Amino acid sequence: MTDMTTVLAIETSCDETSVAIVRRHRDSGGDRLEVLSNIVSSQVEQHAQFGGVVPEVASRAHLEMLEPVLLAALEEAAVEQSEIDAVVATHGPGLIGALLIGVSEAKALALAWGVPYVGVNHMEGHLFATFLERPDLEPPLIVLLVSGGHTLIVHLEALGRYRILGSTIDDAAGEAFDKVARYLGLGYPGGPIVDKLAATGDRDAIRFPRGMMDEGLDFSFSGMKTAVINYVRSHPDAADADLAAGFQEAVVDVLVTKAMRAAEQVGAKGVCLGGGVAANSRLRERFAEETEARGLDALIPDRAFCTDNAAMIGAAGLWRLEVDGGHDLDGGATPNLRLPELA
Ligand code: KG4
Ligand code: ZN
Repeated sequence: MTDMTTVLAIETSCDETSVAIVRRHRDSGGDRLEVLSNIVSSQVEQHAQFGGVVPEVASRAHLEMLEPVLLAALEEAAVEQSEIDAVVATHGPGLIGALLIGVSEAKALALAWGVPYVGVNHMEGHLFATFLERPDLEPPLIVLLVSGGHTLIVHLEALGRYRILGSTIDDAAGEAFDKVARYLGLGYPGGPIVDKLAATGDRDAIRFPRGMMDEGLDFSFSGMKTAVINYVRSHPDAADADLAAGFQEAVVDVLVTKAMRAAEQVGAKGVCLGGGVAANSRLRERFAEETEARGLDALIPDRAFCTDNAAMIGAAGLWRLEVDGGHDLDGGATPNLRLPELA
């Protein structure tokens, strides 16, 4: 017999308003996660003119878009309200105003529908994106989590048991992409633009330094960004495509080298990618090559599950619901919430 649990999940931590309906099917053969809908409304255009996310603009846009996105998610999933077993929302980390809009909506729906509310850590959501496609994946795993706000190497010892083995000492990887793009006047957000431009450039034309390459598992991207700026100052005619390709190559080189180093250190069998920067073409390519060369099981999630989305929050929420039960409706949002780490 198949046991089904269905959640409605809301993600509003930064600049995407997203609602998903995720269903877990459980039978003697194991678990299977089904994404019935995953609607993402991006605010990128509203922030682009400012060259970055403006918190007030984000809150206002979430407020306007949450209702239509929610209705679209319910319609696409073709589920009745009575089929929803819990309502999940990201409760941190993120922008306080943005988070509160999702959390308040989720708590109101949970109360009105008489089902549990579950608050999910956004980073735990990124970790769970992996299981949307591979619920059979067995820890221990190494997850390289690279987004606009974080760069982490996480040792996932078991579900809910995380150890952070490495993190950035300055800029996050996505932030470095965004800053380099801004300096070159390429637009916002920089990651996807640099990625596209790099495909037309020569990645070996300019060799940028690899920050902290030989030191452990932590990262430093700030110096790499400065190296691009200094290079442009001394070579004003350098082609943007070559700059983009060279910079991307340096970032990817460090990310992949350290993820492989971590996998070796802990004897992981599988290595996964997560976070917005995991959408990067060159990172995906190098990650696949290096894991294959080492005989490691690699999971590179679909691009739609790498950047912020509510389906990953639903996947984490289903698991949290099972281990924690529902969360208190008194709970708020925590902008600097950390990944629940092992001592
Ligand atoms: O995970 P995410 O959607 O939001 C955060 O939680 O931060 O990540 C957004 C970050 C941005 O810095 C963006 O420039 C970067 O991910 N990004 C990329 C690509 N797509 C998004 N970076 C490099 N290459 C890409 N294709
Ligand atoms: Zn994110």
